[in-house]
Amino acid sequence: MNKLLFDAIVRRRSYYAISNRCPVSDTELEEILKLALLHVPSAFNSQSSRLMLLLNEHHQKVWQIAKEKLREVVPEKDFPKTEAKINAFAAGYGTILFYEDQTVVSSLQERFPLYEDNFPLWSVQTSAMHQFAVWTLLEDVGLGASLQHYNPLIDEDVRKIWNIDPQWTLIAQMPFGSPTATPGNKEFLSLDYRLKTCK
Ligand SMILES: Cc1cc2nc3c(=O)[nH]c(=O)nc-3n(C[C@H](O)[C@H](O)[C@H](O)COP(=O)(O)O)c2cc1C
Repeated sequence: MNKLLFDAIVRRRSYYAISNRCPVSDTELEEILKLALLHVPSAFNSQSSRLMLLLNEHHQKVWQIAKEKLREVVPEKDFPKTEAKINAFAAGYGTILFYEDQTVVSSLQERFPLYEDNFPLWSVQTSAMHQFAVWTLLEDVGLGASLQHYNPLIDEDVRKIWNIDPQWTLIAQMPFGSPTATPGNKEFLSLDYRLKTCK
C-alpha cells in the first residue's frame, strides 16, 4: 500500500476553523486543480467537471453572496449563527467551486441513448471524485477544507458576477485555508456489516 496516499486519505477531514494563510503558492493551488481535472476519471472519459478557484476578493465575494441570500431565507433570530458559519468560511484563503458542464451530459445522452438516465448521475459522481481528490490533495499540502452546498441559493448571483457558462451546474463549494483548530473525533460505524469479502 502507498503509505503517503493512505495517510492523506486518513488525515483528510472537514476543517471549519481556517485562516487566510496558505503554505503553497497560487500556482501550486492551480497545479492541484489541474492534476484533478486531468487524472480523475469520468464516465466515458467525458471530462464534464469544471472548477473555479476563487482567491482574494473573489473568495470574499462568494461568501458575501451566500450571506445575503441566507439572510433572505433564514429566520432573523437564527441568522447570527448562520452568519458566524459563513464568516468562518470567508476567513479562509480561497474557495473552489465545483461545476458540471451540462453540454457534455446532453451530448452523451444523445450519443448513447441506452444510458440516457445514467449520465446525469455519473456526472455528479464524477464531480464527487474531483471533490475528494482535491480535498485530499489540499490536505496533503497542509491546507484544511470543507465541503459546502449553498447551491442553488447562490447560483444565479455567482453566474452573473463571474460570467459563468449557463450550461455549467454548480455542485459544491470548498472553502479552504490553514487549519486553526483540529477537527473533533469522528465516530465510525462498525465495519462488520459495511464490508463483505467473498473468497
Ligand atoms: C456528499 C457530501 C456532502 C456534504 N455536504 C456537506 C455540507 O453541505 N456542509 C458541510 O459542512 N459538510 C458537508 N459534508 C461533509 C461531511 O459532513 C463530513 O465529510 C462527514 O461528517 C465526515 O467528517 P470528515 O469530513 O471530518 O471526515 C459533506 C460530505 C459529503 C461526502
